[in-house]
Amino acid sequence: MIWAVLPAAGRGQRFGGPIPKQYLHAAGKPLIEHALAALLAHPRVSGAMVALSADDALWPGWSELLGKPVLRCIGGGERADSVLAGLRALPGHAGDDTLVLVHDAARPNLRRADLDALIAAAEGDPAGAILGAPLRDTLKRAGAGRILATEPRDGLWRAFTPQAFRRGALTAALAEAAAAGVVVTDEASAMERIGLRPRLVEGREDNLKVTTPADLALAEYLLGA
Ligand code: C5P
Repeated sequence: MIWAVLPAAGRGQRFGGPIPKQYLHAAGKPLIEHALAALLAHPRVSGAMVALSADDALWPGWSELLGKPVLRCIGGGERADSVLAGLRALPGHAGDDTLVLVHDAARPNLRRADLDALIAAAEGDPAGAILGAPLRDTLKRAGAGRILATEPRDGLWRAFTPQAFRRGALTAALAEAAAAGVVVTDEASAMERIGLRPRLVEGREDNLKVTTPADLALAEYLLGA
């Protein structure tokens, strides 16, 4: 069984403006609907758990989408807290080995081939797997608006979502990071902290997370194409 978990409790402060970015529209639908639909359209995915902020007034109230259940829970102060809340609120037992796909609600352009490749990699590996892509640009370390150094980019990747892990293992890893007071910005970091080495699956560069108005314009173009 596979479930999707979508952290959607962020307020999108980096984007600016009054609407959390997952509710901004591209190609006629909120970003979160694109993200949910991409996951639920996969025949192996049974349903989705969405972590919302307690004062969310914009959630459309779906209890199902594409004929599959959409459950919700209250998220937390950091993205990782929201993911942990979502994992704990899933049906079944917190320690079970359901494969979970954690995906940003503000990442609307996930394509089926990437999801297929990710699921295949994660199912065969107890450390799990994530989508990502190698860095293409030259990297500069900056200070006071000047270049301090050029950093080698060999072996460096950008981490995307979905990130796929067994529910029990990921719950334990995120709980450990939280107990240690460490804020992890993706699920793989929590697994790495307990000594695991998740697989990297090279995905499409256009699986973008909407963070700025320029990203939203790009998402609009990609989803309309
Ligand atoms: O802010 P960032 O781009 O890292 O957010 C990625 C995802 O995590 C978004 O879908 C956002 O709604 C979610 N998030 C959350 N709970 C938080 C902060 C962010 O669910 N406390």
